[in-house]
This record gives sequence, structure tokens and C-alpha cells, in this order.
Amino acid sequence: MRAFYLPYNSHMAKTLDLERRLISGKKLSLEKLLHKQGFGSRKLCRIMILNEEITVNGALCDDPDAEFELENLSYTVKGEPWEYKEKSYLMMHKPANYECSHKTQHHPTIYSLLPHPLVERGVQCIGRLDEDTTGLILISDDGQFIHRMSSPKHKVPKIYEVTCKHPIVEANIHALLSGVKLIDEDETIAALEVKQISERVIHMTLAEGKYHQVKRMVATISNRVEALKRIQIGDLKLPDDLKAGEWRWLQLPC
Ligand code: URA
Repeated sequence: MRAFYLPYNSHMAKTLDLERRLISGKKLSLEKLLHKQGFGSRKLCRIMILNEEITVNGALCDDPDAEFELENLSYTVKGEPWEYKEKSYLMMHKPANYECSHKTQHHPTIYSLLPHPLVERGVQCIGRLDEDTTGLILISDDGQFIHRMSSPKHKVPKIYEVTCKHPIVEANIHALLSGVKLIDEDETIAALEVKQISERVIHMTLAEGKYHQVKRMVATISNRVEALKRIQIGDLKLPDDLKAGEWRWLQLPC
């Protein structure tokens, strides 16, 4: 399984480091650890083990009570390779025409792009993207991490590539940077940074994640978003080789 090595980013790096320290020296029985990793009930996990469907660190294990150190533990389930993760931290390149909720209305859910055990673990995306928006989305089952990354208090900056219907002029960029008034918001809201990429494309950095924020901000400059892609969260960039619909583990550099 491929992992993405996270650039040093305060919230994410601290969390991932803590996770590593939490499992250091800890052991679990094979039955318990498979259950914890989302492979079904204890009974189902026991049956898979007894049926010789599991290998651990390269060797077949048919003893459900055999104990293993969790740190750096790798195992296979029905031939598919996995690594033990106390908590799941992932990034996904969200494709268009997928919804970010578990119970979707018009399109498939992004969770259908993940392996079933991860969904069983109760992963959630951190801040939603609209169904027609593509790009970087973080997913986790660590409630504290989700809260810290999505809390308006922490102002994690996000960069969007915005393709507009009409050309963007200097005065528009100035307006987005000075602050625009959105309907139903009391305060004006400003982009942290706006870079013009081409006549109709800008990279806009936002500190908040309000509902349809980019589209609403662009509407205030009498323009319209034709395509929207999130290309960065904090200092984590959407990797060029992560194709739409693909996901990857987040990891700290060793
Ligand atoms: N702003 C929007 O308008 N839509 C998104 O999906 C994300 C930010």
C-alpha cells in the first residue's frame, strides 16, 4: 500500500507522531486487532483466522489468540496487504459527481471509493466539498483530529483553483482580497491570497470553510465558477500522481 509522506504541518504532524507513540510497545491478539481495524465482528475475524485467510509480518497465522506488537505491524487479509493503524488518516482526490456524505441524495458517496474496513471504522471527511468540486479532501476516524482540522478557530488555509466563466480583472482580485459581503453573513469575508493563473483562472486561499464559500465570493464580483478544485490544505498539496478517485494514507517522514 502506498503512503504519502506528510510535509511538516503542525496539527497533522503532531497527531501522527502521537499515534506512533501511543502504540509503541502495545500488543493485541490477532482476533482483537482485526476487529479493531474494521474487518467485522470478533466472531467473523476468528473464522477468517481459523480459515487461514490471514498472514502477519509475512507468515500465516491461524491462531486467533496469538499476540502481536502493533508498531510496524503488517498483515494480509485474503491476500490484500494492510498495515496496523491505531487511527486512520487519509487523503483523497475527490472526483466530480460524488457526494461527501454517508447518506447521499443524487450521486455516489466518496466513501464508496474506500476499502470497506475503513468505512466500518467510521471514517469522516474533514470539511465537505460540493458534489461538482474536485480535489484534496482529508478523511479520518479520529474525532479530535477532525475537530482540530475543521475548527474555524485554527484557520487551516485551503487553496482552491477556481475557473471562472468570465475574465478576472485586477479590480476583482482587489475586491476578493479586501473583503466581500456574502448574503446571510454579517461580516465581510476576504481571501488570504489570490493569484491570477490565466485570464479566467485564479488560485484563491481561504481561511474559512463556509457553505459554497468560493462560489458565493465569486458571485459577488459578477462572475461564476465553472470549475472548482481544492489543491492544498495547510502545507499539504494534492499530489500530481494522485488521480481523481484515488486515496492514500497520510504518514510522517521516518
Ligand atoms: N467553496 C465552494 O463554493 N464549494 C466547495 O466545494 C468548496 C469551497
